Amino acid sequence: MLRIARVSRIPIDGLISKAVEVRDRAYAPFLKFKVGAVIEDENGRVFTGCNVENASYGLSMCAERVAVFKGVSEGASKPVCVVVVADTDSLTPPCGACRQILWEFCRDAEIILANLHGKQERFRLEEIFPRAFDASFL
Ligand code: THU
Repeated sequence: MLRIARVSRIPIDGLISKAVEVRDRAYAPFLKFKVGAVIEDENGRVFTGCNVENASYGLSMCAERVAVFKGVSEGASKPVCVVVVADTDSLTPPCGACRQILWEFCRDAEIILANLHGKQERFRLEEIFPRAFDASFL
């Protein structure tokens, strides 16, 4: 694991609490798998997201992407921290689609995974998303 200095202005526990809170608002009546995500930008602004499912399953949206898109539309500055919370013993990582979206907007942010029982893990996106496709190829 790459060791990284925390540049976040907000204590990790506060960000995780926010992710737990937004996770409660997940709309997940089909898979009943709730996820909460929080993005903190370099000015200490926080953007939250939960997963939003749909009866047409393929239209469901992950928590991470909701948080990223909210941040973009609300004028977030550079993201420094992304927190993902789910109720799993083995911590839930961002799915492949979310990794690609995070790479576009949050590639340098610290990624923190957590569950509801105090377990947490921190890493860099490049550790779980090597050789990413991005604008440098276009
Ligand atoms: N989900 C997320 O919100 N984030 C992820 O990174 C993994 C999956 C959601 C989508 C769906 O509503 C449920 O979790 C199960 O896939």
